[in-house]
Amino acid sequence: MTSKPRIIVTRKLPAPVEERIAGLFDAGFNPSDEILGTDEVIARAQGADGLLITPTDKLNAEALARLPESVRIIATFSVGHDHIEVPAALKRGLAVTNTPDVLTDATADISMLLLLGAARGASWGERMVREKRWGAWSPTHPLGLDVTGKRLGILGMGRIGQAVAKRARGFDMAVHYHNRSRLDPHLEQGAVFHDSFHALLPHCDFLSINCASTPETRACVNAEAIALMPDGAVVVNTARGDIVDDDALINALTSGRLAAAGLDVFSGEPEIDPRYRDLENAFLLPHLGSATMETRIAMGMRAVDNLEAFFAGRTPGDALKG
Ligand code: DGY
Repeated sequence: MTSKPRIIVTRKLPAPVEERIAGLFDAGFNPSDEILGTDEVIARAQGADGLLITPTDKLNAEALARLPESVRIIATFSVGHDHIEVPAALKRGLAVTNTPDVLTDATADISMLLLLGAARGASWGERMVREKRWGAWSPTHPLGLDVTGKRLGILGMGRIGQAVAKRARGFDMAVHYHNRSRLDPHLEQGAVFHDSFHALLPHCDFLSINCASTPETRACVNAEAIALMPDGAVVVNTARGDIVDDDALINALTSGRLAAAGLDVFSGEPEIDPRYRDLENAFLLPHLGSATMETRIAMGMRAVDNLEAFFAGRTPGDALKG
């Protein structure tokens, strides 16, 4: 018999994180790392006190209602929590926690990688080398775009957006942004606030999407929005795929209305719209935003900190509110 809380861990986590979990809790791990699916998560949750889940586990209101009464906390190994219907969870009396802060720098780094990669044709360039299609140096073979000195528009100026702005300033970019509320001047660091997303768009030689996926932001990068951007602009997304209307983005990349896109996240990933794969001007990554060893360990430790606090009777540091 154990008096340790029973925690179901739905995916394989970095070894130091699993070691800590094993020491603190009666843990049910998933060593094969298969994606369990909602029914299997609910089945494994029988008798459990808490769940440690990831963005690949979808818990909508119907699924939350089917969780056993014994479960009192859901800790997600992610900053994003659009895979959980948080209001329904809170209404049911569950605590829900996420892992902010620790992935800010890694995700901002990937935003810059996408921005540079999309602007400079890193994807097609690499394919030319690998596929032995590199004829010779040429003064005019497909040319990219300068980044230095251009205008970067940031949609969502939270922690990650601000970290992207900091990096962009190193490239002498002029930063513009839209956020639900204007930042204090010491956080703006000279960035220009626009009070609506559409007001931001004409200033975006580059648009970096760094907002959460919410009913307000879903598909907001659509044909109407793209029409407001300068010709030959570049779109970069490290937030969530459903913020972009794929048809509109693919049409704009195909017609040349937009010069390029750098995408780390996709609607319905990993089953992405197959047309992206054929676009030479799309630089595509498989949701690597937080995928460094240091960051993934820090995310796991943060999730465990939240569970530990909860079962010690304290309010977890990252408890989500209604
Ligand atoms: C998150 O934490 O929400 C990220 O998308 C995972 O990398």
